[in-house]
Amino acid sequence: MSKRETFEIESMESILTKNDEHIRAIKDINDAHYTELQHKKKAITITYGCQMNEHDSEKLNAMLMDMGYDLTKKFEDADLIIFNTCCVRENAEFKVYGNLGHVKKLKETRPDLILAVCGCMMQQPHIVAEIKKKYKYVDLVFGTHNLHNFPALLEETLTATHQVVEVWESEGDVIEGLKSNRKKEIKAYVNIMYGCDNFCSYCIVPYTRGRERSRKFEDIIEEVRSLVQTGTKEVMLLGQNVNSYGKTFDEPVDFADLLKAVNEIEGLERIRFMTSHPKDLSQKLIDTMAASDKVCEYLHLPVQAGSNAVLKRMNRKYTREQYLDIISRAKALMPDLGITTDLILGFPGETDEDFTDTMELIKTVGYNAAFTYLYSIRTGTPAAKYEDQVPDDVKHARISELLKVLNPMITEKLSTMDGKIVEVLVEDFSKSSKEVLMGRTRNNYTVTFEGAPELIGKLVNVRITRPKNFSLYGEVVEVIR
Ligand code: SAM
Ligand code: SF4
Ligand code: F3S
Repeated sequence: MSKRETFEIESMESILTKNDEHIRAIKDINDAHYTELQHKKKAITITYGCQMNEHDSEKLNAMLMDMGYDLTKKFEDADLIIFNTCCVRENAEFKVYGNLGHVKKLKETRPDLILAVCGCMMQQPHIVAEIKKKYKYVDLVFGTHNLHNFPALLEETLTATHQVVEVWESEGDVIEGLKSNRKKEIKAYVNIMYGCDNFCSYCIVPYTRGRERSRKFEDIIEEVRSLVQTGTKEVMLLGQNVNSYGKTFDEPVDFADLLKAVNEIEGLERIRFMTSHPKDLSQKLIDTMAASDKVCEYLHLPVQAGSNAVLKRMNRKYTREQYLDIISRAKALMPDLGITTDLILGFPGETDEDFTDTMELIKTVGYNAAFTYLYSIRTGTPAAKYEDQVPDDVKHARISELLKVLNPMITEKLSTMDGKIVEVLVEDFSKSSKEVLMGRTRNNYTVTFEGAPELIGKLVNVRITRPKNFSLYGEVVEVIR
């Protein structure tokens, strides 16, 4: 074992030991509260943004439960409120500021309520300055890189008379061993890497999540194995660019190798992953997806724009031709492949011709779904300084024109599912009723159907009886296992 490896393991162990001490100290305080008042303290974590943030919140929630908090869904009941923030677009930030305004009133009536903000927004110094200046009633501020230190920071906050602020400028080593309080046992998020090195010219993520770091192969396999033992049937392997997994390792291991190994884990039924970057999506990966029975026929492959000129200025490092080539190679091996994407409308300098190229591309691919975003200026990114910003009214006109074409294409594709029998992993009750269940097809369509609660966690065959809007309805014809 090299010196560096020894250091990493020792420092990680000491981090976890210290964490345990802080967790125990807070638990003692909360237990004393319970003994006195006969009710447990409650906490709520509000999450904005992507699956990375959702998974970070699962880790925070696990720490909170170990500290003796009950999790609640209502602000009004909470003794501790955490906002885990996102700053990928300006809208995301507005939502956080709006909610901070809302909880200010609660804090005024209950000064012992603890308010904490963390996540990507806090990695930006101008935002932290704003919180310090205008949101003095916030008790604790921390960032993405020191999330694992939350117990120590909370313990300090409980006795502090000032706002506690600790944001690390850069990432440390990958921290293993943090527990997660996952919402659904059946489906679980598993980080395979952190950070991003791609620096797309519009994107804030490389600045808020730091440099790309892959988790060790064995740590990931071990986590998936232990999830399966506690009932997980499907894993979603997470990273900002999963296709560059392993690039920082000395030994030659890539994402396809990882998928192959996860595919061999007994008891696991399904594997999904996101997000894939087209510039790193290899033929080896396509072959591995097609050859691995547990890897679902689903690919989220953000294209962002259909014009080569725009892609170049976005620093995406692929052309529309290369993107379309990946799609046709993947479809050739997996004809039922469900493909979804992300699109940015109104990127600086986007002309009518560029926009037409995007429209043409979406027609060629035939997406199952697409997430469409108006370009949002992010301070500190190269594109924020581009002079040829597109006016808001043009951005809005383009997005509505695009949706007029995209939405009917999506519903038409959905209608081709009518009458088909599809494999569904039953995930939960539907949102609307406890008598109706929901799950997903392998190519990621949501299906709703009647069935007994015992079916949750099972693989079933469902006949599609009614494609409607962006969803499918059906009836169970067979329980597979
Ligand atoms: N790493 C993934 C990728 O490369 O596609 C996802 C990154 S981001 C969390 C999710 C999506 O947000 C991006 O794919 C992009 O479409 C969108 N996005 C990022 N920055 C944006 C910005 N400044 N304005 C509008 N949309 C943005
Ligand atoms: Fe942002 Fe690009 Fe990294 Fe995705 S790949 S997180 S869009 S910089
Ligand atoms: Fe995710 Fe938003 Fe951060 S999209 S990585 S939570 S900026």
